[in-house]
Amino acid sequence: MAKIELRHLSIEYGAFRAVDDVNLTVNDGEFVVYLGPSGCGKTTTLRAVAGLVQATSGDILFDGKRVNELKPSERNIAMVFQFVSLYPNLSVAENIVFPLRARSVARAEIARKLDWVTGVFKLGDELRRYPSALPPGARQKVALARAVIRDPAVLLLDEPLSAIDEQFREEMRWELGHLQRELGVTTIYVTHDQREAMSLADRIVLMNHSKIVQVAEPDRMFFEPASIFAGQFIGSPSMNLLDLVPVAGGLRLAEGPVVLSEADLPRGLAASSRKVKLGVRPRDLRLVDGPGHELAVEDVFSVGRERFFTFRVGETLMQGTDHRDGSGSGRVWFVPEGLMFFDAETGLRIDGERVAA
Ligand SMILES: Nc1ncnc2c1ncn2[C@@H]1O[C@H](COP(=O)(O)OP(=O)(O)O)[C@@H](O)[C@H]1O
Ligand SMILES: [Mg+2]
Repeated sequence: MAKIELRHLSIEYGAFRAVDDVNLTVNDGEFVVYLGPSGCGKTTTLRAVAGLVQATSGDILFDGKRVNELKPSERNIAMVFQFVSLYPNLSVAENIVFPLRARSVARAEIARKLDWVTGVFKLGDELRRYPSALPPGARQKVALARAVIRDPAVLLLDEPLSAIDEQFREEMRWELGHLQRELGVTTIYVTHDQREAMSLADRIVLMNHSKIVQVAEPDRMFFEPASIFAGQFIGSPSMNLLDLVPVAGGLRLAEGPVVLSEADLPRGLAASSRKVKLGVRPRDLRLVDGPGHELAVEDVFSVGRERFFTFRVGETLMQGTDHRDGSGSGRVWFVPEGLMFFDAETGLRIDGERVAA
């Protein structure tokens, strides 16, 4: 097991900076998920931790010791990529124990370890089969079993589930989370899928344009996004975003009749002259029978057990959740606790106590 520290880590490919001054501590045994859009630098960071790419500047430390100069084989890490490569002419069992054979581990020890990972991954029935005979989900399990069989201090996973069918992915995700906790191995998991991140992570590291933009536990990332980017990257359907303009006693949506009273705003915001955007998640924008705003509802539809509705504020299509008992007309209710305010210039969230809170 190991604690991983990245200190002012930058990685350049020629003139392009793929990782820009990243600082992060991953605690011993922690499951950290790197999340961000394609091309933001997730894989590059992971490869640097593995020793497959050199840091241009900054330090990588395992348990306080600098490992920048260590080869991948000297770092006691195991890595699993999106596209698994198993040896096609070796059985599942032979694939799994390969890393131990390569190190001339004693036969009895190999048998004991194989028993253990076979139990953990429930691969007992597959041991004698060959990779080509396995479905992709099982192949990925074999790859994970092979990765953990030699007790790595650090497990690095780069979109390991993205090549697997949706139906298996959910199950694999659950098993992977369960397994990581059982093994207690420090894990960095890369994905662009926010649902994977939300369900697996102890902490999410959100990255954009080569930089870390927020590090937080999943719930906090959802309820307290640091910026418009974070607010919109996490959550599905996505956070609604609208311009606000000052009026007496509060802020008004730039178009339409909705006024947010001073009591529902961060202290001093109504009086300040900064440009503000409102972020509100669909769950906090409700179509109700009770009090609310008269707004023309465009559409009502269901996804699974949830009912959604849409309406327009000017050109902007808004999405909310339908909380009515029947059908009827309904009114739109902005849940005060769910309102988030962002500086329109910087995109950063405006904190501060609400007067009413
Ligand atoms: N070997 C390389 N040479 C040049 N540019 C690279 C190389 N590897 C990655 N990049 C660039 O660095 C950026 C980050 O890539 P990557 O870390 O793979 O992103 P992610 O995993 O977040 O999708 C991308 O713009 C990519 O094109
Ligand atoms: Mg990648």
